[in-house]
This record gives sequence, structure tokens and C-alpha cells, in this order.
Amino acid sequence: MTKIDIKPDFVFSPQPMYIIGTKNEDEIPNFCIITWIGFSFDKTPHLMMTIGGNKQTKANILRDRMFSANLISEDIIWLADYFGTTKAEEKLKNEIPYDYQWGNYLKVPILEQSNWVYECEVTKIIELDGSHLFLADIKNIQIDKKFEDIDLEMIDLKMLTPAIYAPYNYFKIGDRIGECGDWKNHLRKDNRKYDVVKVSAK
Ligand SMILES: Cc1cc2nc3c(=O)[nH]c(=O)nc-3n(C[C@H](O)[C@H](O)[C@H](O)COP(=O)(O)O)c2cc1C
Repeated sequence: MTKIDIKPDFVFSPQPMYIIGTKNEDEIPNFCIITWIGFSFDKTPHLMMTIGGNKQTKANILRDRMFSANLISEDIIWLADYFGTTKAEEKLKNEIPYDYQWGNYLKVPILEQSNWVYECEVTKIIELDGSHLFLADIKNIQIDKKFEDIDLEMIDLKMLTPAIYAPYNYFKIGDRIGECGDWKNHLRKDNRKYDVVKVSAK
């Protein structure tokens, strides 16, 4: 494959999306979208998140050092889009109806409509050049009761229907390709024909 160089002004970083829930000083919940998010592990699972500029969400996290990360599934993509394209500093985000309750471990707003939610406590804040990078310990995970029997080590992504963000578009996931370690069933040492597109039924 012949490669070309492109400027790193934009990056292609497709990934699931999260609505970040915080509480304002007057205890009113506030939600927005953050997509500069990754996961890490140090004894317990952590979430890493970058918030740029001045935002209500950032001010709330700097004050309370906690937030919720609510997975955005296909069915709530436009509610999420609303939260991510309106600024709390300009008006209360209450034009579209939604439901919430407070977390079970932290006083963070949990979006009723999200099927997979992390309650996160901030452990480290790194101030960058206008952005802040938050490292947070995941204290609790709330999932839709209908998933209580799922195999947590082999989650069928299709059940959660996460929307995928590939800047600046929203997508939905396709088919399962296979599982870790399956390469032996797809590759031959004497052959460069990579049989990776065969989709396995589960
Ligand atoms: C799809 C999408 C992804 C976004 N990702 C981020 C992000 O990773 N970091 C960030 O600082 N802002 C991000 N934003 C912008 C904030 O969601 C936006 O500024 C929002 O109005 C902030 O809400 P707030 O005023 O309630 O804090 C994103 C917006 C959208 C629509």
C-alpha cells in the first residue's frame, strides 16, 4: 500500500459517544456531549476526558470533581445532539423533555434514557493550553436492567446499539467480525490474502 502524509489538523478517531452529566451550583443537572474520551486502567477502570475552552460542564467538574458518562445509543442520538450543540451559559437546556435521577454512589445526574452509565470521580486534572484533561475513577456502572443476564466479558455490542462518532458524523455499528485470538482461523503463514472480512454469526 502506498501511503501519503496528511497534516494532523484533523484526526480520524471513531468511537462511541457519551453524554456528560454534571450539576450546576444550584443543583440543576446539566448535560453535554464530550467525544475526546478514552478509557484506562490502574487497579480500577478509569476514564480520560478532554474539555476545551470555557464550558459550564468544565466549571461544574472543576468545582465538584465528579460527573456521569452516559452512553449514547442510536435511539437518543438527537437528544445528545441537542445537549452538545446548546450552551448552558446561554440558556437552561430544558426545551426537550428528558428524565434523570441522581447517581447511586455520586451526586451526578444519570440520564434515564441511557442504557450504560458510568459514575466518575475525578482523581487528576491536567491543565493544557486552554483545555483540561480529566482522569476519573469509575466508581459505579449503571446498566439497563434488561441486560442483567449478559456475559460481561463478551458483551454483544449490538444489544447496546451505541452510536459511533466519526468526526463530524454519527454512525451505527455493523456486524460482529469475530473474537480475540481468532486469527488462526483466518490467516495462513504462507499467504498474504487476509481473510478478515468474513463475518461470523454468533
Ligand atoms: C458531537 C459532539 C462532540 C463534542 N465533543 C466535545 C469534546 O470532546 N470536548 C469538548 O470540550 N467539547 C465537545 N463538544 C462541545 C460541547 O458539547 C458543547 O460546547 C456544549 O455546548 C457544552 O455544553 P455546556 O455549556 O453544557 O458545558 C462536542 C459537541 C458535539 C456536538
